[in-house]
Amino acid sequence: MENFYKQLLEKNKDWVAKKLDENPEFFDNLAQGQKPPLLWIGCSDSRVPANEIIGAPPGEVFVHRNIANMVIHTDMSMLSVLDYAVNALKVKHIIVCGHYGCGGVKAALTNDSIGIIDNWIRHIKDVYRFHHKELDLMKDETERFNRFVELNIVEQVYDLAKTSIVQKAWESGQELMIHGWVYGVHNGLVKDLNLTMKDNNSLAEVYQLDF
Ligand code: CO
Repeated sequence: MENFYKQLLEKNKDWVAKKLDENPEFFDNLAQGQKPPLLWIGCSDSRVPANEIIGAPPGEVFVHRNIANMVIHTDMSMLSVLDYAVNALKVKHIIVCGHYGCGGVKAALTNDSIGIIDNWIRHIKDVYRFHHKELDLMKDETERFNRFVELNIVEQVYDLAKTSIVQKAWESGQELMIHGWVYGVHNGLVKDLNLTMKDNNSLAEVYQLDF
């Protein structure tokens, strides 16, 4: 146990040495500031490391991760990350990246009580309720689980578009695209769900804000 912990610090030193070997100014450049073009909203799952799966170096991705990549409008952490990314960093893209085999989404399919997390998972159950006609038709459990993962991502993309932060950016003509991705932990590949949003026209009218 102690050994594992010590190794982390050793690995950090190795990483620094490798980076400096490749580019002696690597950290000096990063210390100047950040201008990432991308906000990543992903799952906390240890198998889905944001930068690594898209080959992005430090400085390229602003990251928010939580259980099942949720966009919950009362989540101050998510709202603060979104506000800073859109209004200060002026990111051009937001990617909501979920993944097949997501434990949070799987938990939402059961009636088990796990603890406080039940209240977080409840938001995923809402996604099931919105789409229960399609999901209930699927007899194959894996197929239904996979589709539920995808639909949860779709809803989080819409939930981002519903925020006053995103709508205001669009209203002011800021270039900002929101995408939904699903990552395959079994093969490493990303599937683009092709639901890119760049204005609030595809939101139901009731959500569209006038500023
Ligand atoms: Co997950």
